[in-house]
Amino acid sequence: MKNVLNINDLSTRDINIILYRAKKYILFKPNKVLEDKIIGMLFFEPSTRTHYSFESAVLKLGGNTLNYNDNTSSSKKGETLEDTIKTMSLYCDALIVRHPKDKFYLGLNKNINVPIVNAGDGSSEHPSQALLDVFTIREYTKESDNFHIAFVGDLKNGRTIHSTLKLLDKLYNNITFHLISVNNLQLDELFLESIKNKYEIHNDIKKIIAKIDVLYLTRIQNEREPGKDFKPIVVTNKIIEKSKDSLIILHPFPRNNELPKELDNNPKSKYFEQMQNGVFVRMAILDYIFLEN
Ligand code: NCD
Repeated sequence: MKNVLNINDLSTRDINIILYRAKKYILFKPNKVLEDKIIGMLFFEPSTRTHYSFESAVLKLGGNTLNYNDNTSSSKKGETLEDTIKTMSLYCDALIVRHPKDKFYLGLNKNINVPIVNAGDGSSEHPSQALLDVFTIREYTKESDNFHIAFVGDLKNGRTIHSTLKLLDKLYNNITFHLISVNNLQLDELFLESIKNKYEIHNDIKKIIAKIDVLYLTRIQNEREPGKDFKPIVVTNKIIEKSKDSLIILHPFPRNNELPKELDNNPKSKYFEQMQNGVFVRMAILDYIFLEN
């Protein structure tokens, strides 16, 4: 049994097992490895892609899901997250949990005997998204170890950025991160100090558009800084005109104004493919958490 809680706790071997199996799931019809399993889905924050791609992954592997509803459960009578998760762990074989609290998993009951996958904890991390992001990046960068990737938008609060950057930093030694934000939505000092590859900080995407290989765009997480109403960096076809032919554009979604619909037909846009890869990578994660060692 294995948990997927954050990037630091995953070994390179674990990561490679998941990425390799995800590729197999794209190419071959899956075995029903979850046939006798019930997977609990506990979403304490809204979700479309993570929730339903995990659910689709469970169904493709022959398993069943049990959907926890926070609005009709005992949390409304003051039950703690710890007790809710312990309870659900007695009814399910694994739990997929999204919660607004950073590192919610640290406070959990020590004798939870089923694997837990962190489906997003506050503004901290989102490891399954990172795995599908890196899977998609590798489909295009192949064996290259020295590409340039720009993270654009809310670097401070975007948990997908935190996990994807950490995962790339773990797997590669020669990439360059271009960190592009406005309104002080930059990564904090501690995070920057932990990066082992090269990084550059900018506030204008036009200055670096010609040299990047991957553009990873994100929305401003207005719910995490209420009342501030920050203006995003908007990427248009005109800005993309100056990029390499091989550039790929990714976005974890949901999108707001930073990613106009005009980009959807641009062949460089790979975000719908990224979204679909979410099912295959999450199948691989579900398969992986039940491995013995
Ligand atoms: C993201 C999330 O919830 O962190 N969405 C996702 O899971 N694909 C990104 C976001 O909310 O901006």
